[in-house]
Amino acid sequence: MKALDLINKKKNGETLSKEEIYFLINAFNAGDVPDYQMAALLMAIYFQGLNTKETTALTAALAESGEVLDFSFLGTAVADKHSSGGVGDKITLIMAPLVAAAGVPLAKISGRGLGFTGGTIDKLESIPGFSTQLPVKRFIELVQKNNLAIMAQTDKLTPAEGKLYALRDVTGTVENLSLIAASIMSKKIAAGADAILLDVKLGKGAFIQEREAAFQLAETMFRIGNEMGRQVVSVVTNMNQPLGFAVGNALEVKEALSVLSGEGPADLEQLSLLLGGYLLTLVDKVRNPDEGEQELARLLKSGAGLAKFKELVASQGGDTAYCDHPALFPSTKYRQKMTAPRAGYLREIHAGKIGQVAAMLGAGRFYKEQQIDPAAGIVLSHKVGDFVAEGETLACLHGNDKNIIEEALKGLNSAFAIGEERPEDLPLVYGVVPPFPC
Ligand code: URA
Repeated sequence: MKALDLINKKKNGETLSKEEIYFLINAFNAGDVPDYQMAALLMAIYFQGLNTKETTALTAALAESGEVLDFSFLGTAVADKHSSGGVGDKITLIMAPLVAAAGVPLAKISGRGLGFTGGTIDKLESIPGFSTQLPVKRFIELVQKNNLAIMAQTDKLTPAEGKLYALRDVTGTVENLSLIAASIMSKKIAAGADAILLDVKLGKGAFIQEREAAFQLAETMFRIGNEMGRQVVSVVTNMNQPLGFAVGNALEVKEALSVLSGEGPADLEQLSLLLGGYLLTLVDKVRNPDEGEQELARLLKSGAGLAKFKELVASQGGDTAYCDHPALFPSTKYRQKMTAPRAGYLREIHAGKIGQVAAMLGAGRFYKEQQIDPAAGIVLSHKVGDFVAEGETLACLHGNDKNIIEEALKGLNSAFAIGEERPEDLPLVYGVVPPFPC
C-alpha cells in the first residue's frame, strides 16, 4: 500500500477500506507517512467526507494507536462523559461524583481547555495539591476503589490522535464532523468506556453554532459507538448563555461545590441531573432517564455527591479543606463590577463573548503553553429573562491586571442585550440521539 495512492483515492471521492485506514494511521504514527502527506489526506477527507464505516475504522485505528484501558476485570460497565466544550461548563464536576455515588464507575480522561475558559483539568488543578497526572495504573486503581478518577490526557493513549489533531489545527481541517467525531470517540474508546454520554453544545459559546451540524455530530458519534459495541447517548444542549453564573477555573469549582451542597444555580443542577440520568440508564442502573434523575437528586440532597467529590480530591492529593471552606480559594487583586446601562429584560448574555473576556482576564488560553490564572474570571449576576434596574450589577470581573480589566470591561458591554420585552425561556436541551427510551 502507498499513501499517495490512498490520498488520490480519497481525493477522487472513493471509499477507503478499514485496512487502508489502519495502514495510514499506523504509518503516520510510526513517522513513515510524513505530515505533508497526512495533511493532503486530511484536506481530501475535509472535502470528500468519510462514511460511517470509514469514520468507525478511523476511530478504532486512532484508539488502538496507543494503550487501550481495560476495565473488564471490574465485571461492570464503566461510564464516561464528554462535553464538546462550553462557557461555564462545570457539569463534569457535579455529575461525575453523583454518578459514582450511585455505584457506577466513572473513568474520565480530560483535556485542558484551549480558548474560552479552561477545561475540567484546569478547573480541578485550581484545588491546591490536586494531581491530574496519574500513572495509568493508579488511575485504574482509583476507579476500582472509589468508582471515580479524573486525569489529564497522556501520550500513552491515542498518540496518533494527538499528532493528527495538531496537524488539523494548522491545516484548516478541524471543522469536519467525521474527523471531530473520530477524534472524540477514539479517546473515549481508548479510556475503556462502555457507556458514553456525549454533551454536544450548540450555540454562541460553542464551537458548533448550527443546529444541523450539532445533530449530525451527535448522530455520527452515536453510530460510531454502536458500531464499536458501546452504549452511547448524545444530548444536544444549549450554549447560548453561560451555564450557571461563574466562568473561570476556581470560580467554577466553587460554584460546582455550591450545587453539590444543594445551593447552586438551577440550570446547572438541572442539566447535571438530566445528563447523569441518561448515563445511569445506559448502564442499566435505572429503567429510564427520569428515574436516573430522581436517583441523582436523592444523592445530591443526601450529600453523597459532595462526599464523593471530596473523596476524589483527597485521593488525587488535593486539599479537601477547600471543599469545606470554598472561601479559601485565592481571589484576584482586582474586582470590577459591570452595571446595566438601562432598565429592562436581559434578552441575551452572549456566551462566546463572555468566554473571550474571561480568557482575556486569564481564565483561558490563547496558545497551548499559556499559564492559566486559576482565580480569574467573571461572575454573572443574572440569567437571560431576568429584569434588571438601571445601574444594577450585571457581572463582576475578577483579574490581576488593572489595564486588562479595563479592556475586558469594554469587551463585555456587547455581551449583554437589554430590551423592553421578556424573551422566551431558553431550552436547556435541544434534543437527544437516539430518542429515549431506545
Ligand atoms: N474536540 C476534540 O476532542 N476533537 C476535535 O476534533 C474537536 C473537539
